[in-house]
Amino acid sequence: MSPQLTKRGDPVFRSMLLTALYIAQERYGYLSEEALKHVANQLNLSYRDVYSTASFYSLFRMKPVGQYVIQVCEGLSCFLNNGAERLVDYLRKKLGIDVGETTADSVFTLETVQCLASCGTSPAMRVNDELYDKLTEDKVDAILEQLMRG
Ligand code: FES
Repeated sequence: MSPQLTKRGDPVFRSMLLTALYIAQERYGYLSEEALKHVANQLNLSYRDVYSTASFYSLFRMKPVGQYVIQVCEGLSCFLNNGAERLVDYLRKKLGIDVGETTADSVFTLETVQCLASCGTSPAMRVNDELYDKLTEDKVDAILEQLMRG
């Protein structure tokens, strides 16, 4: 590696930061202090820089999440299609957790997001990388049962 690429804060390393954070999150599930320090060390950036970038983007998780992260869309189309509030309330009651929380068995985390780019087939939610649309409470029940069966 070129010596000028090893300077602290080098723009080349900065440009790799989002990708490195994404990979670390994929590997560990969330960005712990240890993971952030490791990324900072590998890219020769300060922990403060890495932490401030990670905490800025909602894509990155700074605390542990469940095996399945349920993200219910609260965007306008889903809201108008009677989805957002109804589904969030339904999932809160069904899972016994609030938005931002994880079930005691660490299986489900419930989150809300603004748009899943499925407005035409709203209401929608995403579980990890899988998108579910045209949701009803029965469909949500079937999805949860399928996930619990593994
Ligand atoms: S508003 Fe819900 S998918 Fe776009």
